[in-house]
Amino acid sequence: MKKILFAASEGVPFIKTGGLADVVGSLPKCFNKEYFDVRVIMPKYMCMKQEHKDMMQYVTHFYMDFNFQSMYVGVLETEYQGIKFYFIDNEYYFQGSTPYGNIRYDIEKFIFFSKAALSALPQIGFQPDIVHCHDWQTGLIPVYLKDSFRGGEFFCNMKSIMTIHNLKFQGTWDVKTIRQLSGLPDYYFTPDKLEAYKDANLLKGGLVYADAVTTVSPTYAEEIKTPFYGEQLEGLLNARSGDLRGIINGIDYDEYNPETDHFLAFNYNAKNFRKEKIKNKRALQEQLGLERDDRTFMIGIVSRLTDQKGFDLIAYIMDELCQDNVQIVVLGTGEEKYENMFRHFDWKYNNRVSANIYYSEDLSHKIYGSCDAFLMPSLFEPCGLSQLMSLRYGTVPIVRETGGLKDTVEPYNEFEGTGTGFSFTNYNAHEMLASIRYAERIYYDRKREWNKIIDRAMAADFSWNVSASKYTEMYDWMCP
Ligand code: ADP
Ligand code: GLC
Repeated sequence: MKKILFAASEGVPFIKTGGLADVVGSLPKCFNKEYFDVRVIMPKYMCMKQEHKDMMQYVTHFYMDFNFQSMYVGVLETEYQGIKFYFIDNEYYFQGSTPYGNIRYDIEKFIFFSKAALSALPQIGFQPDIVHCHDWQTGLIPVYLKDSFRGGEFFCNMKSIMTIHNLKFQGTWDVKTIRQLSGLPDYYFTPDKLEAYKDANLLKGGLVYADAVTTVSPTYAEEIKTPFYGEQLEGLLNARSGDLRGIINGIDYDEYNPETDHFLAFNYNAKNFRKEKIKNKRALQEQLGLERDDRTFMIGIVSRLTDQKGFDLIAYIMDELCQDNVQIVVLGTGEEKYENMFRHFDWKYNNRVSANIYYSEDLSHKIYGSCDAFLMPSLFEPCGLSQLMSLRYGTVPIVRETGGLKDTVEPYNEFEGTGTGFSFTNYNAHEMLASIRYAERIYYDRKREWNKIIDRAMAADFSWNVSASKYTEMYDWMCP
């Protein structure tokens, strides 16, 4: 039996700000339980819902040296859908109304978490063969495993994997602070190790010291070796390209299933969507105060409102797009300029645009289950889960051909009758608009063709099966 520990800063259902949580919460249960014991460790945030805190049981606590103090580390656990989740408790570090806040403080919090997660293992008697680390928050774990935790039998053979969900975020701060917080010696703070461009970089530590590196799509794995996508670490990623794999994310097919989804007003499936899905569109138009019209081409957006997701392209053509017979439904939070941009267009085209500037699981499912198309014109996209959810719900994705979007959305080809969505290549607002308008034309003028795109979209399989087997292969290769 191989033992794997996922270490991450978020995971569903306990805490989520983005796709990382979906992956950490849904992948572990997709491994063959006869061969793998996969568990998850994450912080216990004060901002978690009470119902989730109530699920946790106290396991143990101890005191750990951290930043010249002795700090309390509590360990709680729960079993959810057959997977054991551990939570690191410290009310000083994990307070606040969101998991992330001020970056300087986040850095301290996640160095604490990384050290506490490893320190907890002997206490709870779980000795993983591999610690699978996700994003910069856990970047010091591979470093610690080669350094202060190396001595002694418990940790000496433990391997680590660093998975990049988003290279944009690296956890960088000045060397002096990170050296002090991490307790690592000077030796580590050179440009071939944790130092990057004079600062200390936690993700880089993980990328240098992990036994294997992965990211969440094959295309992104190639892209990050180039300066445009490499976020200044392309040199290192090229150097490690032999150990770098791109494994595409899946989604939880039980959680995201139009046939059983309790958030939807009307359930439907690949056979009856032609009649049933439209009922959700009516319900959503009603709920959001949009004009009630079955025909109108309804475009959905569910996203963090950041530069990464291509919102400057949307801002640029919104006026033009709103001259068409379309409705645009947005759900998201993030940068103020984009929040206000959508609020503005909601005011200006009140019948056409609905801006919902908040976080809602409920509305997100309703959007996936009601709209005709889903727009995701990302500047870069390591994988992207929203387009996978859209495909699953028969909501045709319109995407830019980058990262995981390129790997998961097959562009419509009207001559061959293939494809599951629409896409464009260059980061250009009018190229995007042309794609949207092409989709509109097929939707309005060739409805049968449009429905066949939906047939293919709903038949595509982005459950975890295939990708979990790729992770299995990697685990087996690392620990034969
Ligand atoms: P990223 O991780 O970069 O934000 P992904 O596409 O991988 O992008 O995952 C985003 C996840 O977050 C999806 O599950 C999406 O439905 C969800 N999401 C994003 N914004 C919101 C929101 N405002 N309300 C509800 N869910 C959201
Ligand atoms: C990151 C990426 C997103 C990816 C998610 C899960 O948040 O931005 O593309 O799908 O992680 O891997």
